[in-house]
Order: sequence, then structure tokens, then C-alpha cells
Amino acid sequence: MLKGKHIVVGVTGGIAAYKACELVSRLSKQQATVEVVMTEAATSFVNPETFQALSRNPVITSLFQSVKYWEIEHISLAQKTDAVIIAPATANIIGKIANGIADDFLSTMVMASTVPVVLAPAMNTQMYENPVLQRNLELLKSYGYHFVDPCEGLLACGDTGRGKMADPALLEEYLVSLLMPKQDLAGQRILITAGPTREEIDPVRYITNYSSGKMGYALAEMAQKRGALVTLVTGPCQIPVPEVNEVVSVLSTEEMLQAVMIRYEQQDAVIKAAAVADYRPADRAAQKIKKQDDSSMELTLVKNPDILWELGKAKNNQVLVGFAAETENLIENAASKMTRKNLDLIIANDLTQPGAGFNHDTNQVTLLYPDGHSQQIPFGEKKKIADSILDEISRLLDGKIV
Ligand SMILES: Cc1cc2nc3c(=O)[nH]c(=O)nc-3n(C[C@H](O)[C@H](O)[C@H](O)COP(=O)(O)O)c2cc1C
Repeated sequence: MLKGKHIVVGVTGGIAAYKACELVSRLSKQQATVEVVMTEAATSFVNPETFQALSRNPVITSLFQSVKYWEIEHISLAQKTDAVIIAPATANIIGKIANGIADDFLSTMVMASTVPVVLAPAMNTQMYENPVLQRNLELLKSYGYHFVDPCEGLLACGDTGRGKMADPALLEEYLVSLLMPKQDLAGQRILITAGPTREEIDPVRYITNYSSGKMGYALAEMAQKRGALVTLVTGPCQIPVPEVNEVVSVLSTEEMLQAVMIRYEQQDAVIKAAAVADYRPADRAAQKIKKQDDSSMELTLVKNPDILWELGKAKNNQVLVGFAAETENLIENAASKMTRKNLDLIIANDLTQPGAGFNHDTNQVTLLYPDGHSQQIPFGEKKKIADSILDEISRLLDGKIV
């Protein structure tokens, strides 16, 4: 499946470097072009000749060894590759990448690269749990670096705990899904709403919420990668907009309603991931409201249209998916919302869970179906969660009566 892909395998100085041999062998068997870059420390664990034989390519071990031709190797390699995977990834390389240090071939090439970079951390449990390392991981995740998390087990240092590098087979699988996304949504028209809405009080003030748009954007990106024709209707967000068929930017809930309703008929599925404001100021002041002498002021709010309810009412064979972000009685509230709004699936999002909900790169959700059954999606990156949600939507679209 990886035939024709160019993959750089970075190997750093940890005991798990021997496992990178299996990874390189697996990728070569898939007929990918594999080039191995080793740090100096890595060469103390595995001989470069081993990787040379397994990859059938020269192995790079130093920033200056290759300054022979006109090409600057760390730049040209970064430009021609489809993905970089660093396995094992030491605490050191993670720290260097997170802090912009480029003092050897691997770290310099990563700095110059715009393709996906996957890291497979491997280290002693205390090193892995060190808050400095955890901060670096979070930072890199927020920049879009991919991680295949280490598992628990007996470590080379004799301890038992988290820090064991993920299996090479799992790393291979991750690369396949990253570089060869399945096309199970090919041709399906999916509209996704994302982000908060903004309800203006006057020309300088508004009511909104903490939604970042990350979950909706992750769904849009992954659906597009899986072949869907995606329309993203987005409230104001501060994150890069994914490349999808159509992007419609809106501000208020009413604008979002308009944008969604005029496109609804053409859609095969609609996913409402936006956190819309339920109320808006009754009147938007034309001029900035001046501070008064009174100790309080009153702002009258009126109810906004309920977009999901409108969609449920007008549903004509579309798969309709909603989100329920709750701080209490999650499952009950989500199930009742699903019934009231005629949904095919609701994604219950517990805002009280650490690392879940608004503004995080990670999430943990429960999928609820009208027949009463539910499915828990474990804590993970929003893109991974998005993929699991899309698996279900793909299944619902397959079963749709046309
Ligand atoms: C025997 C031995 C095993 C090591 N195993 C690991 C490891 O599993 N993970 C890690 O982060 N560092 C490990 N280290 C420490 C790294 O080799 C060290 O931090 C080095 O500077 C990493 O350099 P690099 O990231 O450029 O490869 C080990 C060191 C030794 C001597």
C-alpha cells in the first residue's frame, strides 16, 4: 500500500532502536522508498550498515557527511519525502524539536519539513512522565505533530510502566492510514458546522463561548481526506482552516442557520459540531454602549433559532449527527436531545473530563444511537476521534435507503 511513497525513518539513541530495524524492513517490503537518518547516539545502539541493508539506501548519520553535491541534503530530503517517522523518539529529540533546536541532521531536517512528522516516544517511565517532556509533547501535538503513544510493559531499565515503544506493526499501520486514507466517503456530500457563533451587543462587544472549532475542523479535514465533498460552515475560529470543497464563514447563529438550510437538500450527511449561542441580545446597539453611572445594566436576550431542531424537522433521508456538550447528566441530556431533534447519532462530550471538550487538542466522547445502544470512543487526539466518528457516519450512509 505504501508503494511509491518516500518515507524518512529517523532513529534516535534509545534501546528501542533495534525495533526500528523491523519498521524499516516492513516499510521496504511495502515497496516504499525508505531513507534512514540516525543520530550520533543511535549509532551506539545499531550499526548504520544494518539500516543500509534493510532500506537499500545509504544511511545519513551526520549533517556534514553529505555536503558533496550541490543539493543541501537535509533540505532536499525534507522536500522530497511524504512523511517522517522518528522511532524511537528520545526525550532529547522531542525536547529539541519542541524548542526549535536544529543541531544535527535529523532535527534540522524536521525543522525544514512541511510533511507529517510521526513520533514514537520510547523511554523510561519517569522520563516519560516528567512534566517537561509532557509539556513538550503537548506543544508538539498543538503544532500538528503526530504521536503513536508508547505502551506499558517491562522496560529495558528493569522498571515496568509506560514508555515502551509502540510495536513496529502499529507504526506501519499508522503510516498507512496517514498516507493512504481510506476512501469510504468518496463522493458523499457532508456539511459540517464548527466553532462558536458570535452575537453582537454593539459594534465592539459580543456574546460567544469557548469553542475553538478544533473538533469540527478535524472532522472536516478527515472527511475530505476520506473522499467526501465537504462543506464547512464555520463560526469565527483562530485555527488554520482545513482544505475542503467549500468554506462558508458566518458570525451569528442566524447566519449559520441560513448557510446550513440553503445547502441542506444537497447533503448526504450533516454534522453539527458548532457550539452555537442559544440566545442573542434583543437589540444590537448601532453605537458603542457608553458606561452609565448605575451600578448594573440589563441586557435582554432572546432565543436564537435551534438549527439542529430545524434540520431534524426538515430531514429528508440525510444522516443527521449532533453534538451534546454537557457539564452534568451527560448521557440523559444527550439522549433526550437526540430524540427531540430527530438525530441519527449524537456525540456526547463530557466537558468536565480533563483534556476533553472546548479548546483542547484531545477529546473523549460517547456515541449514542436512537436504538439505545452506545459506544465509547477512548481519549485521544481530535483527529483520531474524528476518524472514529466518521467510521460510524460511513456505516450509517452505507445503510441509508436511497
Ligand atoms: C543504554 C542507554 C539507553 C538509553 N535509552 C534511552 C531511551 O530509551 N529513551 C531516551 O529518551 N533516552 C535514552 N537514552 C539517553 C539518550 O541516548 C540520550 O539522551 C542521547 O543524548 C539521545 O540523543 P539523540 O536524541 O540525539 O539520539 C539512553 C542512553 C543509554 C546510555
